[in-house]
Amino acid sequence: MGHTDRNEGRTAYSAIPSDLVKRRAAMRDRDARLLMARLATYSPFDRLLQNCGKEHDPGIDSTPEWQVWTNRPTTPDQLAIEEQLEHLITASSCVLHVGVGNSSLGRRFAPRVAAVVGTTLHDEERILSENEGIENYAVVRANKYSEDMDRIAGQFNFVLDNNPATFACCVFHFCRMMIAYLDLLRSEGVFLTAQPGWGWVVRGNDPNWSFGWNEWALLGEILRMPVSRVTNSVYSMQRSPDSGIDHQHSAFDVHDAQRG
Ligand SMILES: C[S@@+](CC[C@H](N)C(=O)[O-])C[C@H]1O[C@@H](n2cnc3c(N)ncnc32)[C@H](O)[C@@H]1O
Ligand SMILES: [Zn+2]
Repeated sequence: MGHTDRNEGRTAYSAIPSDLVKRRAAMRDRDARLLMARLATYSPFDRLLQNCGKEHDPGIDSTPEWQVWTNRPTTPDQLAIEEQLEHLITASSCVLHVGVGNSSLGRRFAPRVAAVVGTTLHDEERILSENEGIENYAVVRANKYSEDMDRIAGQFNFVLDNNPATFACCVFHFCRMMIAYLDLLRSEGVFLTAQPGWGWVVRGNDPNWSFGWNEWALLGEILRMPVSRVTNSVYSMQRSPDSGIDHQHSAFDVHDAQRG
């Protein structure tokens, strides 16, 4: 992918032909529904709201103290991911950072890699990133549970999200995000998350969204993305040429996946 400077990153976000975005959206919706069906018999997915029915602005974003992270310190879980990223990046790496917060990750890594593209729900975080004028760093507003993700161009060596389930509204929109992440990874590309963010649920949301290793392993099994514990707290999921929902596969064949 060709994000080599901040302008290019921004252009790439908005310049994908709309028919391609529509096709991509339809495929991701279909795969998200398949993933949802596969998860339906497993706890805690069976206890969560399956589909909130929202066509716009999915996700939970009603708790003011967790909305804008411009003046808050980087969380320990993001720092744990950053420590591992140090060993994984090369000068040609392209990184997608979902939930940029105070842009500390962009400041630390963007000058040393080909590009860091960041996303945020809140314009304050995008404006902070722009004011910093960081080389190879572009932040776009995109709701990760929504079709906004379909307008992100290119594929990445790394997708990082330390709060994938924290703000989830329903299993469908969570699955939609997981399918988008898979699609946005290059072959051999890696999705990284970390505890405690993977287990942290925003106040007011269903506590069943608090996930651990078993849920990570189950998702990796169904998506055919090998998982590993990079450290005790940092988890990875790697895209391979075989990754993606197996459209022929029965839900019953993955019954052991949760017992990792
Ligand atoms: C608690 S802050 C964490 C910031 C940073 N990742 C860290 O750990 O220090 C949550 C971040 O996720 C973003 N966020 C919340 N809901 C989101 C959504 N539905 N889509 C994309 N980003 C979201 C917020 O804009 C914010 O950047
Ligand atoms: Zn939803």
